[in-house]
Amino acid sequence: MSFNMDFFTQELRQRKQYIDNCLEKYLGDESLNPPILHQAMHYAVLNGGKRLRPIMVLEGARIAGGKAESVIPTACALEMIHSYSLVHDDLPAMDDDDLRRGKPTCHKVFGEANAILTGDALLTGAFELMAGNADIDEIKLKDVVRVIREVSHAAGSQGMIGGQVMDMAVEDKTGDYDLSVLDGLKTGELFKASLRAGAILNRLNEAGLEALTQYGEHFGLAFQITDDILDVSGDQTLIGKPVGSDEKNVRTTYISLFGVEGAKERAQQSVQACMESLAVFGYEADFLRNLAQFTLYRTS
Ligand code: IPE
Ligand code: IPE
Ligand code: MG
Ligand code: MG
Ligand code: MG
Repeated sequence: MSFNMDFFTQELRQRKQYIDNCLEKYLGDESLNPPILHQAMHYAVLNGGKRLRPIMVLEGARIAGGKAESVIPTACALEMIHSYSLVHDDLPAMDDDDLRRGKPTCHKVFGEANAILTGDALLTGAFELMAGNADIDEIKLKDVVRVIREVSHAAGSQGMIGGQVMDMAVEDKTGDYDLSVLDGLKTGELFKASLRAGAILNRLNEAGLEALTQYGEHFGLAFQITDDILDVSGDQTLIGKPVGSDEKNVRTTYISLFGVEGAKERAQQSVQACMESLAVFGYEADFLRNLAQFTLYRTS
């Protein structure tokens, strides 16, 4: 299977458009009370973003033989959780960044307290949405509960938040963590949960789920390594966030440990591992194969 970046970028753009339309619907009216909160929620979510996590939810469903429409609430919920994590990640107490998705960060526009509360509201709202997935006919309640449990785990202290705390702890010298473990938690867990969520809701067998789990873990690592590479050598207008944030915050990254070339090599190894994880699937996993390749060429 040969990879064509232009063709695949076009494919991603179409899927992103579909997700964007759904997110607009699920976020509700911007004029709801209190308006500043709902405006900030719209600002933090409907502001670009590649939408890779919801795209993975949909892809998990498709691989399991289900329809994208059957998992849309869960897909939007995963993007809300991701967007909340970015709002909090940018706060002065964390990465203290002023630019996100090409626009001033949420706290720059709405103030710090509102940005914290916006993140809280997005996270909480995500769970309301996931529970609402049970209203879709072909979806079983017990699968919704399983997904909520897995996503909670992935977003929590043993997942994304645990990883974020480890990232900060390296900076203030309160902890020294293995970087692949840290990145696996900080970034990998949410990708893994996204893919599994779509597949679980459409009752993929356990062997298939295990393959997606392996893929999600390796993908998360490849994605965070290339995020670290873009942090030093990306184009700010394309990545839409400040270049040099990791150095400013004295983060341990694949660049600080292995240099750009060493980081690129490790990203390639992770992508190779993604391919191997998909061995149980045929052509139906070609999108995921392309998505893994995409991480190596991405500029945003
Ligand atoms: C950025 O994620 C944060 C990381 C986990 C590396 P994305 O690169 O997916 O950010 P958006 O959603 O496209 O803005
Ligand atoms: C944060 O990693 C990942 C999250 C869980 C939000 P980074 O701090 O490297 O993400 P960016 O580079 O600001 O998007
Ligand atoms: Mg950070
Ligand atoms: Mg950051
Ligand atoms: Mg980064």
